[in-house]
Amino acid sequence: MKVSGSDLPACRPVQPDDACALGRLFERLQSQGVEKFFHPHPLTQEAAEHRAAYAGKDVYCVLQMGTDLVGYGLLRGWDDGYDVPSLGLAIDASQQGRGHGRRLMEFLHVLARQRGAKRIRLRVYPENVRALALYQSLGYAFNLKRGTDGQILGFLELIPENELPGKEQAR
Ligand SMILES: CC(C)(COP(=O)(O)OP(=O)(O)OC[C@H]1O[C@@H](n2cnc3c(N)ncnc32)[C@H](O)[C@@H]1OP(=O)(O)O)[C@@H](O)C(=O)NCCC(=O)NCCS
Repeated sequence: MKVSGSDLPACRPVQPDDACALGRLFERLQSQGVEKFFHPHPLTQEAAEHRAAYAGKDVYCVLQMGTDLVGYGLLRGWDDGYDVPSLGLAIDASQQGRGHGRRLMEFLHVLARQRGAKRIRLRVYPENVRALALYQSLGYAFNLKRGTDGQILGFLELIPENELPGKEQAR
């Protein structure tokens, strides 16, 4: 089921007062078993507090629906000196399959482009068919040889802002 219009959750960067709601999202994600596929950091209240207080070059975003946070995405690597950020995301299981993952990805792509990135990288387990299908449909190209952790590496070449057909704007 796709969601449209005013039902759409808003994509936005994490803010300092998100700590509690983000902690609740992390705990839900953890209880849903998401860490099998998504483990950029522990999904704990403490990690939520760190993200909420974070100030740096990397990007941490949420999907907000009413007062709830239903998705979390990140672009990181800039703080460590890399030019190519690594992307990750997770959507609350109750909200999956409604186009929210795709919208959060597109939002992250816009932010990456605005920060001057020419490419984005990500890693995914090939058995995570939902995520892999999403990434491939957005144009990521994968090296199908698994790394030591079992994941495959993909890259998206970002189209420069001035060459965009007006499709992928932050909403
Ligand atoms: C992967 C994930 C972010 C997708 O989010 P989502 O909101 O369910 O995805 P969307 O509804 O935007 O669907 C986007 C695409 O995913 C794919 N997809 C969605 N449901 C699918 C399913 N059941 N089977 C296969 N592909 C599916 C399709 O390509 C879909 O494209 P479409 O819109 O043209 O149909 C979400 O499933 C998730 O959070 N998974 C757990 C955490 C995770 O694995 N993160 C990625 C780590 S690399």
